[in-house]
Amino acid sequence: MEALNEGERRLQTALEAGRLGAWEFDLASSVLTTSTTCKAIFGRAAAEPFTYTDLLSAIHPDDQERMQAAVHATIETGSDYSIEYRTIWRDGSIHWAEIRAQLYKDSRGTAVKLVGVSADITARMQAEEDQRRLNDVLEQRVTERTRELQEAHANVMVEVSQRERAEEQLRQSQKMEAIGQLTGGVAHDFNNLLMAVMGNLEMLERHVGDDSRAKRLIDGALEGARRGASLTQRLLAFSRRQDLKIEPVALPGLVRGMEDMLRRSVGSAIQIETELPEGLPAVSADANQVELALLNLAVNARDAMPDGGTIKIQLKQSGAAVESEHLTAGSYVVLSVADQGHGMDEETLKKAIEPFYSTKELGKGTGLGLSMIHGLALQLKGRLKLNSIVGIGTTAELWIPVSPMTAVKASPERKPDTHLDGATGPKRILLVDDDILIAMSSVDMLMDLGHDVVEAHSGEEALECLRNGPTVDLMITDYSMPGMNGGDLVKAARAISPTLPVLIASGYAELPPGLDLNVARLGKPYTQSQLASEIAKVLNAATD
Ligand SMILES: Nc1ncnc2c1ncn2[C@@H]1O[C@H](COP(=O)(O)OP(=O)(O)OP(=O)(O)O)[C@@H](O)[C@H]1O
Ligand SMILES: [Mg+2]
Repeated sequence: MEALNEGERRLQTALEAGRLGAWEFDLASSVLTTSTTCKAIFGRAAAEPFTYTDLLSAIHPDDQERMQAAVHATIETGSDYSIEYRTIWRDGSIHWAEIRAQLYKDSRGTAVKLVGVSADITARMQAEEDQRRLNDVLEQRVTERTRELQEAHANVMVEVSQRERAEEQLRQSQKMEAIGQLTGGVAHDFNNLLMAVMGNLEMLERHVGDDSRAKRLIDGALEGARRGASLTQRLLAFSRRQDLKIEPVALPGLVRGMEDMLRRSVGSAIQIETELPEGLPAVSADANQVELALLNLAVNARDAMPDGGTIKIQLKQSGAAVESEHLTAGSYVVLSVADQGHGMDEETLKKAIEPFYSTKELGKGTGLGLSMIHGLALQLKGRLKLNSIVGIGTTAELWIPVSPMTAVKASPERKPDTHLDGATGPKRILLVDDDILIAMSSVDMLMDLGHDVVEAHSGEEALECLRNGPTVDLMITDYSMPGMNGGDLVKAARAISPTLPVLIASGYAELPPGLDLNVARLGKPYTQSQLASEIAKVLNAATD
């Protein structure tokens, strides 16, 4: 008995040290016996009764099924009972219990009762839960941070590519600007030289009389010079320094007027379709230059379709809603020329408007067609847009701003009067040009027309003539001269002689906008008959 009591005490001590509750459940009677610690685990005081029904109702409803199943499994298979579940205390608080038990059988092997221990594992479960939550939060933070980093990276990549694109565009436009200035300068000087060559050849032609061989040679030289002049005109157009005659132009009429000529230029293998809606507003443009542009676009389309096809010429009104890099907001009429030709690859499309860029065989293309149209478009404050797909075709669009005025019906130009009449009888003309070569050839032309010419090679010299020389009827002056330019000279000359008729000769749009001098202009290079007709116009206007 003593040994037994001793054993019982040691067991009690061990249970208390392990904070374990002890219990027994009798299977036949469903009587539950629990130690004080065991009751405490379920939140019950030592004095309180704690039956099997009390136990069941103290288990969290969501865990009951699991608990019952575990009990049955142990009874049926004899395996150890081991489970963790939530308990609900009287104050409603939730705790965790861990229960372990074994099946106790009698000597015949019949299951009699479950005997086991219970422990409060709330603190452990809480710690595990906290850990889990912390992990979740950490994981979430890592995911968020990763996403932020990915987004930041993507943004940087977008910015880099936008920047690269902008830089490329800037480089391209700076390049075009530089080429423009260079070609403009060269073309200007060439224009002056050609002017002297053509002027002198014209005069010479008159002097050789009936010598047909000499005449042929001179004609050849003149033809060459004319081609050179048209080349410099295209270069000046590209560099946006062309002398434009901007007026309201009705494009449908302009295109219709060109149709015959376009058909002849593209040949019979190619159809031309037009879509020219009526009621389009007039545009601010130089009609001759737009005609030239249209002809160039049609020829490009023809060259892209060696086996024939259709060229579609269309007009439509379009608005640039927002100010873009190329267009200011406003209303435009778009002249488009579309072909079904071989198209352009990206590289060609990028370079197409560069002067002298041509994929055509040597001698076939100068590579100035699109450059000229591009320069013209910009000078008109519009734009040239090119769309092209290899193997499908190309569409070129010339955007021209709508004119605030309506187009005037083109009146047949008065035939220039090259003879000396009442107003243009022999006059005394002051000719001012810093370029001796040009001055010489112009003086020859004027004298040949029967005029008396006074020559000056600078603004100062010209003013000197006006002040102290014989009275002159007309002054013809170059614009860009070192020292005093043509504009300043005209102002100073008007101070001396307020009604003096003046003609300013210039090879390109060098006259600054807003130069309101009320003077007639003469485009360089000019022929003798052009010179005569401009003189007649100015003098007629002066006597009106
Ligand atoms: N409609 C088009 N279809 C396919 N390629 C085109 C078309 N228009 C222009 N191109 C390409 O652009 C290049 C430049 O055209 P651009 O009109 O400036 O010069 P070009 O036609 O070669 O010579 P030019 O017009 O001075 O006689 C052409 O050589 C061609 O490669
Ligand atoms: Mg061309």
